[in-house]
Amino acid sequence: MESPPPAISLDDLVLRRFDGEADLPELFQVIEESLEHLRPWMPWVAEHSRATTADFLARHAERWADGADFSYAVVLDGAIVGVCSLFRREETPDGGREIGYWLHPAATGRGVATRAVRALVAAAFRLPGVDHVEVVHDPANRASGAVPARLGFTEHLRRPAERLAPAETGEEQVWRLTRRQAERTARGDG
Ligand SMILES: CC(C)(COP(=O)(O)OP(=O)(O)OC[C@H]1O[C@@H](n2cnc3c(N)ncnc32)[C@H](O)[C@@H]1OP(=O)(O)O)[C@@H](O)C(=O)NCCC(=O)NCCS
Repeated sequence: MESPPPAISLDDLVLRRFDGEADLPELFQVIEESLEHLRPWMPWVAEHSRATTADFLARHAERWADGADFSYAVVLDGAIVGVCSLFRREETPDGGREIGYWLHPAATGRGVATRAVRALVAAAFRLPGVDHVEVVHDPANRASGAVPARLGFTEHLRRPAERLAPAETGEEQVWRLTRRQAERTARGDG
């Protein structure tokens, strides 16, 4: 199973694999400080505790090794400010991957998520057999939708979704970028 790089450096911004239990104090603190910002859209926040964060970190290596979830700490000027993941849902066809992200509220408004997702898109298309990448978000979550829109994704479909987090509307917007679209964008011919 081929994996993306364990670390991706983008000047002041680094995406790096989690380092198991060693990351627990810092990741837990970042989540604690972000709870009210994340709660509207992220179902796992309702269950958040030190134990659930420890469990996420404990399962990280195995999920990375089997290709299910390449989750990176988003590190800005040396501090963890969020998480960005390239993953595959069980129902996702072989050629598809999804990217998810969240930031500490103090790290928003600076293009950090857009830069991180751009780097994960490039990493995804370096993996063999990946022909499209998707971002899925609630249509009411405008900040989230602006990220794929900036990166040349197109609105692929909207589908009913279970309401799992407080602000969710019961629908989700799927954005898609195909390998061919990404290559065209990289060549600069739209
Ligand atoms: C979704 C989320 C990560 C988006 O954060 P964000 O700060 O809006 O996104 P970015 O980091 O890409 O920053 C974009 C902003 O930086 C600005 N910016 C500055 N430099 C930029 C650059 N080089 N590139 C892109 N944008 C830049 C943009 O204009 C934009 O600001 P605006 O929204 O005021 O126009 C954030 O809102 C969040 O954590 N939400 C809660 C969790 C969540 O909903 N996750 C997604 C679930 S599907």
